Parts: sequence; C-alpha cells; structure tokens
Amino acid sequence: MPQAADAGLPPPVVDGDFARELLAGLARRPRSIAPKFFYDRAGSALFDRICELPEYYPTRTELALMRERAGEMAECIGPDAEIVEFGAGSSRKIRVLLDALQRPRRFVPIDISAEHLHAAADALRADHPGLDVRPIAADFTRAFELPARSATGGRRVGFFPGSSIGNFTPDEALDFLRRTAALLRGGGLLIGVDLVKDPALLHAAYNDAAGVTAAFNLNLLARANRELGANFDLAQFAHHAFYQPTLQRIEMHLVSRRVQQVRVCGHGFEFAEGDTLHTENSHKFSVAGFRELAERAGYLPRAVWCDPQRLFSIHWLALPA
Ligand code: AVI
Repeated sequence: MPQAADAGLPPPVVDGDFARELLAGLARRPRSIAPKFFYDRAGSALFDRICELPEYYPTRTELALMRERAGEMAECIGPDAEIVEFGAGSSRKIRVLLDALQRPRRFVPIDISAEHLHAAADALRADHPGLDVRPIAADFTRAFELPARSATGGRRVGFFPGSSIGNFTPDEALDFLRRTAALLRGGGLLIGVDLVKDPALLHAAYNDAAGVTAAFNLNLLARANRELGANFDLAQFAHHAFYQPTLQRIEMHLVSRRVQQVRVCGHGFEFAEGDTLHTENSHKFSVAGFRELAERAGYLPRAVWCDPQRLFSIHWLALPA
C-alpha cells in the first residue's frame, strides 16, 4: 500500500483509473503500471513521432505490407463489412484497408484517447461520405458495448494493427482474443503481430538516437505531475529498455537515478538509486506461436502476410458463425 499521507490529515481523495493504478503500482514490488496510461494527449503525439523514427521498423513495415497486400486482405474480409478497430491511432492503416474493401459499411474505432479518436473519425467521415463512422471512447481492455449489427448483413471484422497485442501479458492477450472472438463471431480479426528478430534491431527500435522513446516513457511521470499533482523530477529518472530473450519481450522501465521521495495524490513513495517502475512489455512472436495462441482463443488462423525480412506479420483469423 502507499505510505501514509501527512499525519493527522484525512486521506486525499483518489479519483480515476490513472490515480488508482499508479498508486497501486508504486506500492507493489516490483513496481509496475499498465502501458495504456502512456496515451494522454502528449503521449499519443509522442507515439505518433515514434512511428516515424528510422529505428522503429514496425509502423512502416506493417504499412508497406498492407499497401502491397490490401487486395488479398480485403478478399478475406469480404464485401459490406463492419470494421471494428481496437485502439484506433492515426488512422493511416485503416484508410489503406477501407480503400481496398468492397463497399465497407461501417467503421467503429475504439480508443481510450477521446480527443484523438474524434478528430480521426471526423477526418475519415469527410473522406468516406458513405461510411457510417461510430467512434467509441473506451478502454478496449475492459468490457464495452458495440452498436447493434447493421441491417446490411455484412460481416463484423476486427482490426488490431501495430502489434499492440504484444503490450498485453500472455494471459491478457489470450483473454483479449477470447473476448473479441465472441464479439466478432461469423467474421474475423485482421491483426498485426511483431516478430522475434535480431535483438540489436529491437534494442535500437526502443532506444532511438533522438530520444523520442525516452520522452514517451518519461511522459508517464509528467502526466502524473499534470493530472495528479505529483512531484516527479523527470531529470532524476532514466529511460531503460532492453530485450528479455527468455520472455521474448522488450521491457521498458523508468529507473531512479538517486535516492528520492515522491508524492502522488498526497501519498509519499521512496525510491532507492536504481529502483525501477516497469512501464511496458512489448512481446514478440513467431508466426507459429501466434497462430497457436489465436487457435486457443477460438479463432481459425488462415492467411499470414510477412515482409521479405520477416520483421512483421499480419494475420487473418477467421471465425465460424
Ligand atoms: C503500441 N505498441 C505496440 C508500441 C510497441 O512497440 O510496443 C508502443 C511503444 N513503446 C515504445 N515504443 C513504441
């Protein structure tokens, strides 16, 4: 539990998921917090910059793969589809897919960052006047409701690009796939999955020379200062990202540069030099390993597309009616 607030004062009100989860994460050992809290306005903008970095291969590789093979992907999905995107980001990838699909009917982007979501939805409506765009501002890692299926009878298909599946723990990934399999019955899921590769490439992708990934990681503490009145001194925490080969994942941490005390929502926390807050896992998969996981969740793995260097994969997972 968090250490006691100032003696004699009532405990401060802790409001909202971020406050609750940060307090709990700082109190547990090892300290950790879910990566979904990276994505406030500043964090989403930093992530957009990461996607443009020369070292960060996933975005450009997946986008190139989609541009080359969108026709085949559209054939798997079929006509009149309703596309549900989990964690709709900048919408560049969905545009490639929508342009290839035959008469896409409805697009339901779901994202935790409402502002980002609505701006992207408005832009898409302007470019696809016939498309019924229904943004849902929600945390898709929790229960949420989809609009009733459209009367046009097309299939409901999930779209989950970017290998965000890798940011879940293995149990969470299985749970997410099971929940989406129930939601998308009779349709399927098109999902981007980052592949296991040379650790040097992975290390560079999460330790870019321009320091954007470091700023993205540290923004979590800046967000706590902005939103929760915390007093993290950002100069006293270092970005640390490394590949864990046994767990096939990049881990990101924030490491305390010295002994320090911080306050969050009126609670005090001690950091020794070298103490870390674990902020993200980014799991990497083999094609076979991912197909096996999808099958355990009830999907029927069908087509897989990989770039020539086998850096990244996109999977079409079908679902029986
Ligand atoms: C969103 N997600 C798939 C990114 C990743 O690669 O795991 C987040 C990220 N973290 C650092 N750089 C990018």
